[in-house]
Amino acid sequence: MLRGPRGSELHRLDAGCVEQPVGGRFRLEDSGTIAVAIAVAGLALAALACLLGAYLVYKLRQVHRTLYGTDFIVRTLSRSVSQNLQNLELLTQELQLHKPLPPLRGWAASPDILLVMARHVQRAAPAVIVECGSGASTVVLAQAARLNGRGHVYSIDHDGAFAEESRTMLARYGLSDWATITHAPLAEVPISGSRWEWYDLDRLPETPPIDLLFIDGPPADTPKPLARYPAGPMLFPRLAPGAVVFADDTDRPGEIEVLRRWASEFPALSQYAHFCEKGCHELRAGEAPADLSEERQAV
Ligand SMILES: C[S@@+](CC[C@H](N)C(=O)[O-])C[C@H]1O[C@@H](n2cnc3c(N)ncnc32)[C@H](O)[C@@H]1O
Repeated sequence: MLRGPRGSELHRLDAGCVEQPVGGRFRLEDSGTIAVAIAVAGLALAALACLLGAYLVYKLRQVHRTLYGTDFIVRTLSRSVSQNLQNLELLTQELQLHKPLPPLRGWAASPDILLVMARHVQRAAPAVIVECGSGASTVVLAQAARLNGRGHVYSIDHDGAFAEESRTMLARYGLSDWATITHAPLAEVPISGSRWEWYDLDRLPETPPIDLLFIDGPPADTPKPLARYPAGPMLFPRLAPGAVVFADDTDRPGEIEVLRRWASEFPALSQYAHFCEKGCHELRAGEAPADLSEERQAV
């Protein structure tokens, strides 16, 4: 046994090798292990920091995307709201209404399509207007006819209570002489060998050929998908020369399919889209509506 500095014991490892302190503070082999441990811990910390950083970047991007999406939705909605307000104002002015229209949008038609139709009635002065699905639109069409001093609205509704409500609404606007609302429950109608359910047209009063047809009923999927398709085969043959058809809600997949079927079965009727919040198509034979681009800008 040898004695090292300050009296520590030296242990002979090998003949002729350096003596290591035994029981002292450091050993050479210990310091190597500590260095490796520190390096491993450092690497682990760096990896953890990288993972944390990546997670934070991922979260920040998510927040950014959400905020950007929300911002886009808010801007789109506010544009739609302001357009609807503007169209409602125009509609009220152009129809010379002295009381506000019933609530629009939702189940009722929106101001944009109502404005397109009111302007059409003022221009074309149709004599026979047929409407599938009564409500606020009946008031608008009847008032437009009243301003022309010409025309009558024949509206059909599959629901007796809503038909009655629409009659009351017409009376409130003093328009009962300009529109007739008929309760026509859905009934089985054969079309090209298939069975469909649609308004019982036997209830509709006899009318001369139709100058303007507005399709806004039955409600979607009532009683099954493509509920509005029968309007084509049932009513298009009754259109007068130069007649115009407006279809509401044409942004819905079911109505897009209905339009596709009408286009293939009634190729003489061209289809034109107006920019309306729920989708609106105008169908007519011959030339495109002369004012379509103007209406696209205004509505
Ligand atoms: C799209 S709505 C017709 C809306 C009408 N053209 C208007 O502008 O007010 C089609 C049918 O849905 C029914 N309906 C109307 N309002 C409804 C409501 N709030 N809930 C359930 N059905 C309704 C009526 O029978 C109506 O004929």
